[in-house]
Amino acid sequence: MTGSLDWGTAPARSLRGAIDIPGDKSVSHRAIMLSALADGVSRITGFLEGEDTRATARIFAQMGVHIDAPAPGERIVHGVGLHGLHRPQGALDCGNAGTAMRLLCGLLAGQAFDTTLTGDASLSKRPMRRVTDPLAAMGAGVETAANGTPPLRVHGGRPLRGIDYTSPVASAQVKSAVLLAGLYADGETAVNEPRPTRDYTERMLAAFGWPIRFEPGRARLSGGHALRAIDIAVPADFSSAAFFIVAATLVPGSKLVLRGVGMNPRRIGLLHVLRAMGATIAEENRREAGGEPVADLVVHHAPLRGIEVPVEHVADMIDEFPALFVAAACAGGVTTVRGAAELRVKESDRIAVMAAGLRALGARIEETPDGAVIVGGRLRGGTVEAHGDHRIAMAFAVAGAVAQGTIKIRDCANVATSFPGFIELASGCGLAVRPA
Ligand code: S3P
Repeated sequence: MTGSLDWGTAPARSLRGAIDIPGDKSVSHRAIMLSALADGVSRITGFLEGEDTRATARIFAQMGVHIDAPAPGERIVHGVGLHGLHRPQGALDCGNAGTAMRLLCGLLAGQAFDTTLTGDASLSKRPMRRVTDPLAAMGAGVETAANGTPPLRVHGGRPLRGIDYTSPVASAQVKSAVLLAGLYADGETAVNEPRPTRDYTERMLAAFGWPIRFEPGRARLSGGHALRAIDIAVPADFSSAAFFIVAATLVPGSKLVLRGVGMNPRRIGLLHVLRAMGATIAEENRREAGGEPVADLVVHHAPLRGIEVPVEHVADMIDEFPALFVAAACAGGVTTVRGAAELRVKESDRIAVMAAGLRALGARIEETPDGAVIVGGRLRGGTVEAHGDHRIAMAFAVAGAVAQGTIKIRDCANVATSFPGFIELASGCGLAVRPA
């Protein structure tokens, strides 16, 4: 989505109550993709009704997959089998969704027809050679724009061969793109990562009956099997929950319950880091839903102190740094982030954009090439730019809860990519944020 929707915030009273966070974005994308390629009918519940994940569903509909939406958060996907997709009319528009574009690039390299993948202004600036390079080594033909960015032209009808790939970046999108191409490849495809990343593709392939072996940091599979339709219950997205976890921690008097949050170990780095900073976050009612660990999180207000963020947690909280930067700016002492250069190639350059915004609110923060040094204190009101980045907008909405004045946040429309209904949910539990 484009547009320059602005938000205004005011200091919050305490956050109270119990809330349900929308479905996990990563899981929702993959659920559509694998259901579409499966034999039989799959039912997805808890599907994220965000613009990113709806773009993925629309793209498969464009390739002939029938997808019913009987109720919000529900999809019935009539799988066409591994080789049943049809050549689409026109380009496939991924919108703001990097996950859609990178995973589809791998999957489409295995089809018999050519496709073109496009995206919005932000996605059109993001690096794609990280996926097209390993795919080329498998025999795929994918063209990027001159500087390695979208649009992507994916040539089908090329035989793919398995590779043993060691990725220079810790990226679940890269790993997933290679594994999805591997479904169509001759022989074994293996991916090794510099640090383990989220393993939803691996877990879901196994759930759909595809033989796969994986452990943190390595996954391998062979081509030539089939996917069998299943029912998928999508857990609540930890990355969306993160904004409420930080807000309830920061605002005095808060006690907030977040129900059924996905607790995949590769996603909860922020929990470890916030607890090391002094946060009080209890996990209750731990259970499994759709093959994933979930829990109700009970967050009480607690004063935070700055820490050095352990580098081993970075990949497990890669989407949570905007929220963490706000927590750090309100903590006692200094917080240091290192080993997070990937933040510079997300929906925006999240190090630069958070640093500029926090400075506008009076914080002391110094950028480094792969992180930042943040000196905690009191935030004041001001005007900040979200640069169309959903997580930046929501992070500053959290800052607004504790700032000493009102904050104007510009360019927030893309929050609908990952968190439809954020404003309503936030207002309902005590955060004062509204369109301005
Ligand atoms: C995602 C992987 C991460 C993350 C993104 C979703 C996924 O990206 O930032 O929001 O679903 O695989 P990278 O693979 O680029 O780290």
